[in-house]
Amino acid sequence: MKVQIVFDSAYGNTERIAKAIGDAVGGEVEVINVKESAGKTIPADVLLVGSPTYGGKPTPAIQDFMNGLAGDSLKGIDVAAFDTRLSTRLVKVFGYAADKIAADLKAKGGEPVLPPGGFLVKGRKGPLKEGELERAAAWAKEISAA
Ligand SMILES: Cc1cc2nc3c(=O)[nH]c(=O)nc-3n(C[C@H](O)[C@H](O)[C@H](O)COP(=O)(O)O)c2cc1C
Repeated sequence: MKVQIVFDSAYGNTERIAKAIGDAVGGEVEVINVKESAGKTIPADVLLVGSPTYGGKPTPAIQDFMNGLAGDSLKGIDVAAFDTRLSTRLVKVFGYAADKIAADLKAKGGEPVLPPGGFLVKGRKGPLKEGELERAAAWAKEISAA
């Protein structure tokens, strides 16, 4: 199973989640910062995309990455999305990055293997809440099981 994990991260929290997912998911894994994704080909089997939540959406770099994928380029590829987010009630109103990424992945022909994963930070710069790296690893293991 070839797995590619594309993430964006300003303060390192989403990067830590992406790496925890990469360590847990199994198979041949490539974890790529979206800023270094230009020219990389999409993997044969699984594509996971993760972003910090900004105003209820993915970051501009992740939006650009998604917009850059051709119409049905993810046909036959298992896909899932994850984000990092605050736990305050206020942000719920805006929604979360992973839901939007998941919808985009599906629109490009991807086959969703898991519901979007949301992982909590304590503040804008983090750190991650206790147990979130473990929760990310458990989320990733469900992909290998699926
Ligand atoms: C400009 C900006 C907008 C944000 N908007 C939201 C938001 O709408 N909802 C939310 O839960 N968190 C929001 N956050 C908090 C981010 O989710 C948090 O900074 C991120 O999870 C940290 O990830 P990183 O360390 O990988 O950059 C926002 C942060 C910034 C800087």
